Amino acid sequence: MAKIKLDLFRFDEAVDTVPHRDLIEVEVPEATTVLDALETAKAEIDGSISFRRSCRSAICGSCSMSINGVTALACKTNCRDVVKDDGTIAVDPMQNFQPMKDMVVHMDPFWDKYARLKPYLQPKDKDSEHEIERRVSPDDMKKLVDVANCIMCATCYSLCPVVSVDPAFAGPAAIAYAYRFIEDVRDAKRDERIAQISEDYLWLCAHCYACSYCPKHVEPNNRIVDVKRAAIKDRVMMNERGPRHALVVSKTIKQTGMLAETEVILGTVGRFNVVGLIKALAPLGPRMALRGKQPPVFVKPIPKVDEVRTIFEALEVPVS
Ligand code: SF4
Ligand code: SF4
Ligand code: FES
Repeated sequence: MAKIKLDLFRFDEAVDTVPHRDLIEVEVPEATTVLDALETAKAEIDGSISFRRSCRSAICGSCSMSINGVTALACKTNCRDVVKDDGTIAVDPMQNFQPMKDMVVHMDPFWDKYARLKPYLQPKDKDSEHEIERRVSPDDMKKLVDVANCIMCATCYSLCPVVSVDPAFAGPAAIAYAYRFIEDVRDAKRDERIAQISEDYLWLCAHCYACSYCPKHVEPNNRIVDVKRAAIKDRVMMNERGPRHALVVSKTIKQTGMLAETEVILGTVGRFNVVGLIKALAPLGPRMALRGKQPPVFVKPIPKVDEVRTIFEALEVPVS
């Protein structure tokens, strides 16, 4: 048995104006999970400690919470792996959500973004044969298997820094789920779905990889790349700044081996968009020029640019 001190976030929106912390010591088996440690604290010491849970097996997606500052499923996190040298484990509600009571948060923004996807198949026809069964080849199914494992735990959403600065951003789970329908051969709304997720700020993703930690290996970070590639391949919403920016960045690196910043600004904002260019350059341009730091207008290719181009071709990176 091991003694663990749970350093708990405590807050009840019905009565509290500010949160406080409780330090609760429990004696638990060495290999117990954070969820079981919380259950012990609730059963033996303070029945008012609140947290969501159901399956205790990383299946239902309820028990996501911040453990020592990093969001994870409490039922999949072993106390042994996270306990600090002083014997404590800090447990907080997921970041990027409004706390309701202790570790229970308001999930509405997360579910609203999911509901906007229309997360159900929308096939083209509805003949009686297809009402019964729509067969998918093993190859077509392979693309969907990993993402279909998503348990909507919101761990990735809580870890996403873009959600924290721009709550309008759909977030990694919704984009991964959009991918699940975009790539489903039975669905007839591929372009509409790409347009919808683009409107929900798909292109705001900064590819920081914070959401690559997913307890079900959905890898939403990679699914976001797939959805962006699908948008470019199908030429959906290509007048938006996001895809234009991605393409011009790729193009200049492929051409020169360097990021040609002047070209990136022109290509993203629009060469003839005078108002947009003034807006983009007004705050920084003059200050950079005064300090002699303005980017060059023309960038010469680096000596081994062919090697860069080989990488682009091997990865099939779209540049236009
Ligand atoms: S993608 Fe992974 S982390 Fe995100 S909600 Fe789904 S299962 Fe949870
Ligand atoms: S990769 Fe994109 S979606 Fe994932 S955490 Fe970073 S910004 Fe958010
Ligand atoms: S209790 Fe179900 S995922 Fe943890």
